[in-house]
Amino acid sequence: MEVIIKADPAAVSKEAAGIFRKQLREKPASVLGLATGGTPLGLYRDLVRLHRAGELSFAHTTTFNLDEYLGLPAHHPQSYRRYMQENLFLHIDVDPARTHIPDGLARDVPRHCQDYEQIITDAGGIDLQLLGLGSDGHIGFNEPGSSLGSRTRIKTLTPRTIADNARFFGSEDAVPRHVITMGVGTILEARHCLVLVTGENKAAAVAATAEGPITAEVPASALQFHRKCTLIIDEAASTQLKRGDYYRWVYDHKPEWQRV
Ligand code: PGA
Repeated sequence: MEVIIKADPAAVSKEAAGIFRKQLREKPASVLGLATGGTPLGLYRDLVRLHRAGELSFAHTTTFNLDEYLGLPAHHPQSYRRYMQENLFLHIDVDPARTHIPDGLARDVPRHCQDYEQIITDAGGIDLQLLGLGSDGHIGFNEPGSSLGSRTRIKTLTPRTIADNARFFGSEDAVPRHVITMGVGTILEARHCLVLVTGENKAAAVAATAEGPITAEVPASALQFHRKCTLIIDEAASTQLKRGDYYRWVYDHKPEWQRV
């Protein structure tokens, strides 16, 4: 796992935008795995800016989002479909028909999850998967205890995640209890995983992800098995890392051809 420590959230977004730009230049028809939440907002703003400047096109991309709340219709202000429309899709040239998000109103949830896996496979698999990190160590909505081989399925949120996300809903009671999420196993099949984390409240989860034992208690720790995972964090999120100085050293000595 490559760990990149940047000064602040804006620098994290900029570094991540560079990775997206490189990916799309090398493969315009990339399959992108996308994430929601507070962390990727800066990146999405940067991608929209690059698109408007004529530096980035999504015309040939296909996208798959990690997760969606069960019970929320697409137009609900807190649905992840709505989030993606407002923060990215409406501002870029992606073909709406090739943007995929689990359906929060799916009637047959197991079947819908199986179909979601199948369309990812049919698209050729995910080239670049963007991820946030929960303060409890989740990726997607794979809460602690999730099987590290799990596939897209229904999950029940933990009280901690409900409390973390209450800020978007106004109260904890309004946060749905169930979600559909890609599994840890689904995520690990992406060819490149890109995890963005900012803020002091994520410092323990970052240390457990990058340096802790691989355990279902911290689903993100499974990324240590991944052959190409880039973890970009800000200084505040780096404070509990044991090898922070080494990661900075590695970054400073990166060969020119590896830089984005
Ligand atoms: P956040 O969520 O970006 O809103 O902190 C991250 C996550 O839960 O994956």
